[in-house]
Amino acid sequence: MASYCYINGKITDSKNAGIAINDIGVLRGYGIFDYLRTYDKKPFLLNEHVERFQNSAKLLKLRIPLSKAEIKKIVDKLLKKNGFKEASFRLVLTGGPIVGNGLEYVESNPTFYIIADKFEELPKSYFEKGVKLITLEHQRIFPEIKSTNYITAVKTQEIRKKEKAFEILYTKNGNVLETTTANFFLVKNNKVITPKKNILMGTTRNFVVKFTKEKFGVEEREVKAKEIDTCDEAFITATNKDVLPVIRIDEKIIGNGKVGKVTKELIKMYNQEVKKNLI
Ligand SMILES: Cc1ncc(COP(=O)(O)O)c(C=O)c1O
Repeated sequence: MASYCYINGKITDSKNAGIAINDIGVLRGYGIFDYLRTYDKKPFLLNEHVERFQNSAKLLKLRIPLSKAEIKKIVDKLLKKNGFKEASFRLVLTGGPIVGNGLEYVESNPTFYIIADKFEELPKSYFEKGVKLITLEHQRIFPEIKSTNYITAVKTQEIRKKEKAFEILYTKNGNVLETTTANFFLVKNNKVITPKKNILMGTTRNFVVKFTKEKFGVEEREVKAKEIDTCDEAFITATNKDVLPVIRIDEKIIGNGKVGKVTKELIKMYNQEVKKNLI
């Protein structure tokens, strides 16, 4: 089945889409992206994703050739034209073709495209049984920017598979940060705790923090890796993972190795809140 994307002002069959071979995004890794999904065929947190994309662009001095309203319109068109049951969208922006000394680009000539794909849900059993993480000492470069640089994440997939882990949890100087593609939370004495520095501010993280605050209280702060040893529950959040329970980190079994009651409640609340926020 053909899939349609947006590139260079047009919606086209993805097979016919391409970028310049001297794009600074490819040659120097100078690019950003954002990733969102639909529920009930409606793009979820579209505003938040576009705003984060705009912020990443600003921090790297990249120019998005379209306004927020124009991007939203294209996402809508791609959604209708592709006809996926549920869809994901990846907005991608680079500096465009390399110029000058090979480390420069022309701000007015960016590469911008939007890929639409069928959205694949994670297996239900992951939410019922929880997943395993393994830790790695690492911090993403410019962590608050959703850059296209996932070199460490890609390179460590072999280790992740060998260890039968779902994702890798990054730690740095004794602090827990985030996983390869998700934000990290602990639960201790019914309080929900999550890092707030040197991470990507996840749209799902922020959404979860908002509705969790009233019911359980949330501490957004530096989280020590040692706190894993004494926590009651853990979970991760991301656009394509919702609220996903974690029951093991390296050799440490979290709680009693089963999905904890706060996490269960948050999964339920998440599904309800998503429904309320679909427009
Ligand atoms: C490094 C990193 N942190 C956190 C997240 C979670 O962000 P979001 O909830 O906006 O998907 C992602 C998502 O891909 C990510 O790549």
